[in-house]
Amino acid sequence: MTPPSTEARARGSRRTDEVVIEVKDLHVAFDGRPVLAGVDLRVYRGETLVIMGGSGCGKSTLLRTMIGALRPNRGKVVLLGKDLHALDEDGLDALRKRFGILFQSGALYNSMTVGENVALPLREHTSLDEAIIRIMVKMKLELVGLRDFESLVPSQISGGMRKRVGLARALALDPEIIFYDEPGAGLDPVVAGVIDKLIADLSRKLGVTSIVVTHEMGSAFRVADRMVMLYEGRVVAEGPPEAIRATADPLVRQFIHGEPDGPIPLRRSKTDYAEDLLA
Ligand SMILES: Nc1ncnc2c1ncn2[C@@H]1O[C@H](COP(=O)(O)OP(=O)(O)OP(=O)(O)O)[C@@H](O)[C@H]1O
Ligand SMILES: [Mg+2]
Repeated sequence: MTPPSTEARARGSRRTDEVVIEVKDLHVAFDGRPVLAGVDLRVYRGETLVIMGGSGCGKSTLLRTMIGALRPNRGKVVLLGKDLHALDEDGLDALRKRFGILFQSGALYNSMTVGENVALPLREHTSLDEAIIRIMVKMKLELVGLRDFESLVPSQISGGMRKRVGLARALALDPEIIFYDEPGAGLDPVVAGVIDKLIADLSRKLGVTSIVVTHEMGSAFRVADRMVMLYEGRVVAEGPPEAIRATADPLVRQFIHGEPDGPIPLRRSKTDYAEDLLA
């Protein structure tokens, strides 16, 4: 394996040679329609890996398969040394304590306060005293800059703040790995930048391994130590941001520059249009 590039080191990358996730020949289909068609991927401890690709190309599907929420039709995911889809519910539960997830929507419980939302994983997965949990909740909220908002409910705070509460909750159990699904979606550029800074800080200061799924290129280039691009169910490009930015591959160039013309088609229908209309 190549060592981190000079640029990555300059950014403070904490990437090591230890593989924490190995995705092998992953296939996922819905109702016979293939979405992932042989994804191969490795994630190294300490790095921030960005998975990019067009809307609907299967990024969330890949993420859900990587956390054991979705069973692949073929292939496997080895997460922290465990073959994910061979584990029973107890095994999976034990593993779940070691990674956190920030969902595309934030996925907070509206009936609970901010503090209770963050406390949830601690109550579910540990037998810590209530007094300790209270302190830990305050520490996680301080990390995302929201310690003063503990007693509000999600509907009383903004979308960007909800994302940060989601992040505090993902951090509750001090995970080794955090998965982010579109962390900046629906946020204004400044707030999205704040989230990016948090992602980078967690990785660079605490050595957390991050997998960030996004189609927002600004954010992707800000946080990535390494990037992969997903297209037609496979990884079609892989490399550090400098290499991706400088690539001659027309597919990648079209995507990162958002150009309307290029190899990526606008229409994806596989059926014949005329036939479909007259059917
Ligand atoms: N549970 C499901 N049942 C059937 N089809 C699904 C299911 N989940 C996802 N799909 C399909 O799989 C494809 C990929 O969806 P996915 O959500 O993974 O895309 P994505 O890359 O995350 O898109 P976006 O950038 O818009 O979030 C889509 O065509 C979607 O309709
Ligand atoms: Mg998605």
